[in-house]
Amino acid sequence: MADIDPGLSPEARRDAAAREMLARMVAHAAANQTDRSDGPLAIPATLYTCPDRFAAEQQKLFRQLPLVAGLSQDIPNPGDVMLFEAAGPSILVGRAKDGQVRAFRNLCTHRGAKLLLGQEATCTRKPRLTCPFHAWTFDLEGKLIAQPGKAGFEGHPEGRRDLLPVAAREWNGLIFVQPEGEMDLESHLADFAPVLSMLELDKAEPVKRGHMDCAANWKYALDTYGEGYHFASLHPNNIGITHMSDVGVFDAYGRHHRISFPTKAMAELAVMPSEQWPPSDYGGVHFLFPNTVIFVGSVEPGKTFIQLFRLFPSDVGHMRCQFAVYAPGGVRDEAHRLETELGFDLTKQVVETEDYRQSEQSFANLLAAPPGFNVILGSNEIALQRLQRNIADVLGVPLE
Ligand code: FES
Ligand SMILES: [Fe+2]
Repeated sequence: MADIDPGLSPEARRDAAAREMLARMVAHAAANQTDRSDGPLAIPATLYTCPDRFAAEQQKLFRQLPLVAGLSQDIPNPGDVMLFEAAGPSILVGRAKDGQVRAFRNLCTHRGAKLLLGQEATCTRKPRLTCPFHAWTFDLEGKLIAQPGKAGFEGHPEGRRDLLPVAAREWNGLIFVQPEGEMDLESHLADFAPVLSMLELDKAEPVKRGHMDCAANWKYALDTYGEGYHFASLHPNNIGITHMSDVGVFDAYGRHHRISFPTKAMAELAVMPSEQWPPSDYGGVHFLFPNTVIFVGSVEPGKTFIQLFRLFPSDVGHMRCQFAVYAPGGVRDEAHRLETELGFDLTKQVVETEDYRQSEQSFANLLAAPPGFNVILGSNEIALQRLQRNIADVLGVPLE
């Protein structure tokens, strides 16, 4: 990204970024070119299929890194609480009386029952949580505030424990939770922070959520968000009609990245002076390592939406994507709500029936591939190469 004055308002920064990205997209589209890495990369198919490799990923990526549990408006008010269970352990994420977001193990300190049951990332108004088993009650600061029959527990150091805290941070509209260890969010986000902060995610209002299951390794499914090389062949009836295939503008930010895919109409703008180009909204696929995609898009100029995809594996060959759509700046009126919901439905349909079905077929085939079989990631699949290198780096296991 060209340098954008950090003193500008988020909106002015988005406008500047949108102009700069549009210029690059028009040039790429007209030349039928894409951003590339230095060359192709062959990787063993076992990176997707090996259970030991998966166990290491689960530990290092899904337990010991900050993960997106939701956006601020998912739990907007003090007393709001939601579940974050997708990464493994059941975790409560709540906004306490003081407005602070905190997270705890969803684990009663009496005999380990779950205090809250329900759907992932769905807001419940519960300023106090009463255990369904024997009614110990905790507030959203994690304090044990009521303990029926407390005489039975007196005199033991573990007879009266608060909830077990989990590292959590609310940052520019994103709620991060890290199941184990101390969170170092600044180092994790590094120079992706200014890009995320200009999205104003704190003002994004949730409109619809659901999930999509895929019987494939989580990285194989995630890879479908990382290249536009498959648009014409896999999506001939939707994005393959509107967008150029194998043309993308790519920016790396540490382990994270942003990609934008030009529409076919953009190729025609090259013959016009840029002052005559129609206005273009800021947009793109924002990948937040290791498992989150924030897609900012627009239906038509001025009508933008935010789609949040969080991919969580349950084992080496299965994952669930927690999918939610948000209205930037809030829902304006009923028509806006319906449009945003429709965007959710259409996207879910395409992802489930095209991207994830393809991932399932390919993954099943890789399980039966001959020993030593490599998949090859082209220089045009730069995001996929980087994902593999970055995971190898975090795991401390070399790729080659
Ligand atoms: S397990 Fe929660 S009160 Fe007994
Ligand atoms: Fe796709």
